[in-house]
Amino acid sequence: MNSMSKSEVTPLKFESIRYDDVNDRVYVIDQTQLPHQFVERELHDLDGTCEAISAMRVRGAPLIGVTAAFGVYLALRNPAMASRTTLDEAVERLAATRPTAINLQWALNKMVEELAGSGDDELGPNALAIALRLHAEDIAACARLGDYGATLLQSLWVEKCRAAQQAGEAEPGQLNVLTHCNAGSLATVDWGTALAVIYKAQEQGLPIHVWVDETRPRNQGASLTAWELARRGVKHTLIVDNAGGHLMQLGLVDCCIVGSDRTTRRGDVCNKIGTYLKALAARDNGVPFYVALPVSTIDFSLLDGMSEIPIEERASDEVTHMTGRDAEGVERTIRLTPENTPVSNFGFDVTPANLVSALITEYGVIEANEEALAELRLKLSE
Ligand code: MRU
Repeated sequence: MNSMSKSEVTPLKFESIRYDDVNDRVYVIDQTQLPHQFVERELHDLDGTCEAISAMRVRGAPLIGVTAAFGVYLALRNPAMASRTTLDEAVERLAATRPTAINLQWALNKMVEELAGSGDDELGPNALAIALRLHAEDIAACARLGDYGATLLQSLWVEKCRAAQQAGEAEPGQLNVLTHCNAGSLATVDWGTALAVIYKAQEQGLPIHVWVDETRPRNQGASLTAWELARRGVKHTLIVDNAGGHLMQLGLVDCCIVGSDRTTRRGDVCNKIGTYLKALAARDNGVPFYVALPVSTIDFSLLDGMSEIPIEERASDEVTHMTGRDAEGVERTIRLTPENTPVSNFGFDVTPANLVSALITEYGVIEANEEALAELRLKLSE
């Protein structure tokens, strides 16, 4: 992955991954450079795609899935290399890049199933067609779930205004939503999941304010969510990860909305480490806890998220060190801890279904339980 275009100025409209059909090129935003620089990099081949996912240049469950689909295309696009063996090797290598987000496996399964009938000479063009379709479907799904979620926020806002009126208080100034990690347009092709709900609600005129968890250790909230909310003009405040419970006790959080990397068939939700603690605090304070997800994030083969979802464990230097820019704009990595401090670094945790108020999907808002998910599964099979 070596060609890149750098810019301090972000284009007004971008997709986290895009295909240039004139030049047959695939580009991703290098998210390790945000919020300081908007850098697009070309994915040249399978190696570059695997590196981009493993190094988290692209991250976020739906985006990882779509990127993997393009990775399969890149492995097959040279007709001299296109074969079943190349396909199988590409799928195996891409599947090993990150373990938790099911969208990766979901997209690879689609590629394998849909390429089953293709001859070697058709593998490349057909892989591209499927990747482009998944790309378009991801945008449409996120936009639709954003609409459903915005309706939910409308009701919360009406309820908040009514409660204030009944208590003889002034009309509330804003609806406060807390989010964790980055479940925004950068985690998908466009729109996002949790943030799609916020963008759509803001478009409808709701006075939204977002509490942004910084999301240690990689700080996707501080570096990515804060960046994209600012770009879209959404009012927001960055908080340390431990602040959410306190804000809920003060009545300063009207709801939480997060994304999901994998959702089981009974509604357990696996998301960035720390999500579970927010759900516990939300339950204790009567704050609704919503999870926004495209159905590509549901793993119907699993029931119990706590025992069945593989949780990624990441390098210790993500915890012991931090990277940022100094006053001169030079990137620096500094150590926070004594040398050789033992570290545990689980990337995700599981929020049990009973703590989830509702799942916001592109097919509507449903309860987080086995019956509701079985009904959704039936709808998907029709
Ligand atoms: O490790 P990351 O940055 O890939 O984790 C991303 C998240 O946890 C998101 O909340 C999740 O993928 C849902 S995003 C639509």
